[in-house]
This record gives sequence, C-alpha cells and structure tokens, in this order.
Amino acid sequence: MSQPSPSLPSESSAFITTFNPTKAWWKSACIYQIYPISFFDSNGDGIGDLQGIIAKLDYLKELGVDVIWLSPIYRSPLADMGYDISDYEDIDPRFGTLQDWDELVKGVHERGMKLLMDLVVNHTSDEHAWFKESRSSKTNPKRDWYIWRAPRYDEHGTRMPPNNWESIFQGSAWEYDEATDEYYLHLFVKEQPDLNWENPDVREAVYRMMRFWLDRGCDGFRMDVINMISKVPGLPDAPVLEPMKEFQSASLMYANGPRAHEFLREMNEKVLSRYDIMTVGETPCTHDPAQIAEYVLPQSRELNMVFQFELMDLDLGGPEADDGSVESLCALMHKPWRLADLRQCVAKWQGHMRAAGYWNALYIENHDQARSVSRFGDDSDAWRAPSAKLLALLQTAQSGTLFVYQGEEIGMKNFPRTWGLEEYKDVATLNFYREELARRAKAAGTPEAAVDMSDVLDGFQKKARDHARTPVQWSDAAHAGFTTGTPWMRVNDDYGRGWNVAAEVRDADSVWSFWRRALALRRHHDVLVYGDFRLLLPDHDQVLAFTRSLHGATALVVLNFSDRDAAVRVDPPYVDVTKLEPALTNYTDEEATRPLGGHDIRLRGYEGRIYL
Ligand code: GLC
Ligand code: CA
Repeated sequence: MSQPSPSLPSESSAFITTFNPTKAWWKSACIYQIYPISFFDSNGDGIGDLQGIIAKLDYLKELGVDVIWLSPIYRSPLADMGYDISDYEDIDPRFGTLQDWDELVKGVHERGMKLLMDLVVNHTSDEHAWFKESRSSKTNPKRDWYIWRAPRYDEHGTRMPPNNWESIFQGSAWEYDEATDEYYLHLFVKEQPDLNWENPDVREAVYRMMRFWLDRGCDGFRMDVINMISKVPGLPDAPVLEPMKEFQSASLMYANGPRAHEFLREMNEKVLSRYDIMTVGETPCTHDPAQIAEYVLPQSRELNMVFQFELMDLDLGGPEADDGSVESLCALMHKPWRLADLRQCVAKWQGHMRAAGYWNALYIENHDQARSVSRFGDDSDAWRAPSAKLLALLQTAQSGTLFVYQGEEIGMKNFPRTWGLEEYKDVATLNFYREELARRAKAAGTPEAAVDMSDVLDGFQKKARDHARTPVQWSDAAHAGFTTGTPWMRVNDDYGRGWNVAAEVRDADSVWSFWRRALALRRHHDVLVYGDFRLLLPDHDQVLAFTRSLHGATALVVLNFSDRDAAVRVDPPYVDVTKLEPALTNYTDEEATRPLGGHDIRLRGYEGRIYL
C-alpha cells in the first residue's frame, strides 16, 4: 500500500459522501479582480498603476479579500487594454516596474493574501519580439510560432483570406502581410496574432514564462480564452449560418479544439503541479457541462476551475443568442433575462455538476461584462442598494470559489444612456459600431450620417464592456479620487451622490458594509462554500430559493428578484427550516431579522435572506 497522499480529504472519512468536496484554500478564498488601469492612480497621469494597488491593500484586506487577480500589467501597446502583450516578462511602464511588482507581491503576502496573474497565451501582441521575427520571413525559425497561411483567390483572381472565419472583434480573423504574401490568424483584433500551440517550442516558451512569475512569487493564473488554444486541423471553413455576412462565427473550429486538453495536461504536468497555486481558465463559447467539466474534474489534471459563460449569456440578444456562441465575448445585443433561466442556470451548475467532483468559479461581473446591478438588479435610486445587496447574497450563498470584481462591492452601475459614443473606449464596442453602421448604410443605400444607430447605443448602455472599466469611485473628490490628473476614461457621474468607497465604508448600511458582512459569513460557514445545493420553489415567478447542507448544518436562501412583495412557503421535507435564524438580510427591520418560526415568508421588493 502506498502512503496516503497529503492532498486527501481533510474531513474525517466518516462524513464523506459522493457530493462532499475536499477542502482547499483556493476553494474557500474570496478573489478580487483588479483591472489596473481603472483601479487607483498613484502619480496623477490618469492611469491606474501598481503603486496605486499597493496603496489599497489594507482596504482589500478589510473587505475580506484573500486573493487578488490582476488583469494584465505586462508591456503592451494596449490595443486590447493589455490583453495584447509585447513582453511577458516585464511590466508596462505606465503601470510601473518589476520592482513595483515585487513590492506588491511582498505587501500581498505580508497581509496573508495571494496574487494571481493573468496568463494571455492564446495570442501575443503584434509587437512581441516573437511575432516581429515570425513575420520577418517565411524561413525565420519563429515563422511557425504563429499561424500563417497562403491567400485564396476567387474566380476573378481577387485575393481572399485562407478561410471564412470571423474575428471575435469583427471582420476577418486573418490579416494579410504584404512582406511575405501570407495571412496570419487573429481570433481577436489584428494586433493580437494567435500563437501556434501545435509547435512544441511555443509551449516550452510559455511554460518558461509561467515559471518566471511563479518563481518570483505569483500564486497562480487566470488563463485568458484558454479553451481556444487548439484549432481544428486544416483550419476548414466554418458552417455558413448567416449567409448575408462575408465572415462566419467560427467558434466550432477553435473552441475546445481537439488538442486543448492534451496541451493543458502537459502544462499541468510540466508547471502547475509543481507549485501550490490556483488556476482558473476562461472558457467561452459553450454551455455544455461535459465539455466544461473535462477542464476541471480532478482526474483530468488540468485546471482547478473555469469561468463558464451561461449566466453572462442570459441577457444576450441578437441572432446567435441561444447557442452559447462566441458572441458572449463582445455581446452587445441585449434582451431581457428571465428568472426561470437564472434559476435553471444556478441549479445546473450548483447541482448535478457537483456530483462528479466538479468545482465552480462564481462570478457575476468582470472587466468584459456590464455591471451586475444594472443587469440582474434594478439600478434606479429606489432599488439600487437593496438589489446590489441581493446579488451579494446570491453570490456568497452558492458553492464554488467566489470572484468579486472591483467596484462590485460598492454597487457601481452602468454609465447612463446620455453618454455618447465618444465615452466608449473599448475596441470591441467601437469595431461593432463601425461595422454595424457600414452594414446599415449599405443595406439602405444611404450615407452613414443618415443611419439611425440609437438602438445600437441602447444595447451598448446595457451590455458594453466599457461599463466595467470606468474608474473605481473612491471618494467624492474630483474624478471620484481616482486620480489627481485627467482620468483615461470618464468617471461615472454618481460618485458625488454617496456611491463611493469613503462614504460606504463609513455607512454601516451601505452595499460595501453588506458585502463585508457577507464575506465574513461565508468565511465562518463552510456550508456556504462546500454544502450540497437543493432547489426550492422551482416555479415561482419572483423568488429564487434553495438550501445548502453539510454535515448536519443547513442554510436556507430566499431571494426576491422583483420590486413587488412576494409570498412563499418553504417546506423542504429533509430539514426543519422553522428552527433557522436569519444570518444575513438586506432589510434590517424586525420582520426581516426575527427567527423564521414557520414555513411562510413574505419578502418585500428585492429582499433576500440567508437563514442558518
Ligand atoms: C478575454 C479577455 C478579454 C480580451 C480577450 C482577448 O476574453 O477577458 O478582455 O479582450 O480575451 O484577449
Ligand atoms: Ca498612474
């Protein structure tokens, strides 16, 4: 018999059921995502930076954060805000220096926290030295580090891209390079050429770079579009689903491709398994649990967890709304979401996925998504605070590793419809606008100036990535105290009306104070992190309700997603809920905070409660 490995369950085996996940620091951790350019500017140039993050570490500790994930701070031309990296082993001077990073990681560790870096290795910047070499000639040793193909020609001899794939950020996924008369593949903008993962030298270079950061003190990685690193061999045309369009959505040809798991297992074997770290992969373009699970199940030896996109796609409008396709990455068409779909989504990932040892990553915001209170709550003055707190309850009451995005903890919301196109900075938003404008002008045979784009701007106001990227609102000083200079992006106007960190930290009833309590509750109750999930009230049209249970502890969670009163009767056969006490409520009056006592609950608008 071999020795028991130290990674066996920490619970006594008497309690282990098939649903009982093993414990790990990265499972119970609260992870806070920082989008550095908009977090805090330390030197007045209008751009958030590493010293700005260092200045706020005590703030994050106070909130209850265990791990910080930094969106990219590497050298970059910022064609896609740092997701286009020109040097993986250096810090962009706008954000600071390697010495600043060392100081940051030291400050993080001194406070008992950990630091994750963003690993962007599906593509580099076109200004990366590897790509400059690669494009220099067909015989350069790095030619094959990227994906080059000869042109196609139509019957008139007109040069065409090698296949019909559409870039996720509009237009063809291929860019012609005159010097060598070939095209290179870029799933995102043309400044983001895709690396060729088929080439073992590319993989070794990536692993070397990962070790560089791990040996320097980084505690893990969030892996950008990691399910796109393997493309279907031969790069065949994608099926034509929209005949009117020149280029076709092609995620079938590159999402969860044939060698994706092989590559990740190799990365795990050669790098990840050698360190005590955590990993989370970003996996858009599929809602299929079988596909998703393979990245995460412990026996796969790939990643700890992934960000699946099902919740993010609930309010996705447009032609490809229902197939979970790639549009979720720059989803700018909106449709109203339905509680029944939210419930189904929560139950799906909380429920049967756990049976196989799957582990969730919980998020409702990040730098690619509009603000949650504006999407899943009600951001009007009357309901903004209660509904932001309701979403905090939803997030902290589910099983999985919890991710909080900067500003979510103070209930930041989308900027208003009155802001014009000039306030949108994201290349995905602007490309979408340009292409749609050209399409409409051509279809109507009118000049672009005559085209009505107001519905597109309506969609942007709801869905654009830009809403997550306005500077964090620290105080009621000019530009919300984010910078003493001119912010790179306009600050949302509401910071002067109490929606800022300074005001909310002082106010025991604020969204911030509520998040702090919710994170503390989760820290003290393993049932919220690890417990089994059971859905209640499957057909209620206002309320999402469920229980969590672990080792005899039970939590009851009731959440009213409407602005109207809701009456519910909770009577699960497997537990006596009448013995439960309110542990966290977003209303604080006598009615909300008394012990449950019976089975009938009345919830007011956006009222939510966790009983324990
Ligand atoms: C991921 C990032 C997003 C970026 C894209 C290309 O989805 O989260 O911000 O634009 O990948 O790197
Ligand atoms: Ca700065």
